[in-house]
Amino acid sequence: MAAISIGPDPSLAYRPNLMEKESKDKEDYRNFESGSLIDRVFNTYKLMHTNQTLDFVKRKHSEWSGCSHSQMGMMEAIMSLDQLVDESDPDVDFPNSFHAFQTAEGIRKEHPDKDWFQLVGLIHDVGKIMALAGEPQWAVVGDTFPVGCQFQNSIVFRDTTFLENPDDKNPAVNSKYGIYEPNCGLDNVLMSWGHDEYLYRVMKFNNCKIPEEGLYMIRFHSFYPWHSHGDYMHLCNEKDLSMLPWVTEFNKFDLYTKTTDMPDVEKLKPYYQSLIDKYCPGVLKW
Ligand SMILES: [Fe+2]
Ligand SMILES: [Fe+2]
Repeated sequence: MAAISIGPDPSLAYRPNLMEKESKDKEDYRNFESGSLIDRVFNTYKLMHTNQTLDFVKRKHSEWSGCSHSQMGMMEAIMSLDQLVDESDPDVDFPNSFHAFQTAEGIRKEHPDKDWFQLVGLIHDVGKIMALAGEPQWAVVGDTFPVGCQFQNSIVFRDTTFLENPDDKNPAVNSKYGIYEPNCGLDNVLMSWGHDEYLYRVMKFNNCKIPEEGLYMIRFHSFYPWHSHGDYMHLCNEKDLSMLPWVTEFNKFDLYTKTTDMPDVEKLKPYYQSLIDKYCPGVLKW
């Protein structure tokens, strides 16, 4: 994979004084109305909500699901995220590998007995390496939502960013259920293409032994309209509902461990490498 640098220069981006406050209150997170990063965030969503159509998502599935793009170990993939700053995220302006270790350590403190959960914290955003391979950020990062049915009001910037999405005006796909049956299960729903679904595919393709709860966290952690707004329940089946509490438990750590406190990555690496060796060892196909 070509290691190209995208987004702002990381050496500038993770200087702690970029953020006005050292620690944030809960209501300061996911503020999509104001803040120093808001223009960049809005532009990423505008492109995403214009271009993520049912056809586009199907194309991306066939492009990426064969995992024929590159081969590398999990730790190497995590560290390669240092070159990436997520342009959809109003809370993070430092490289993603720090976010990976912060999330994992947050989970480790509260769930010391669940090593698979800690590992999920570490790897949940690794699918963002698609951006390093040339995918635009609007097809990699940000909140996800189902395509092939009506875009619901719980989607961020719903009123202003879908105006040029052809699916929004197409009666075959813009009704409440669109192409889906009631309660068909999220496994049968095509989500906007991004790093959640991609990493889920990579885990399945490489036969990784992460428990089902962890796979749900990976696959749906960016589906905020569902796990944080209670929307799209009409597409969910029993299994989805039983997994939802795990996804919301994960979200706590994904969101509120984003601080300017930088973890000592080198010191933490041996422990997390042992979890990688247990659940997703060796060279993986991406
Ligand atoms: Fe993510
Ligand atoms: Fe994350």
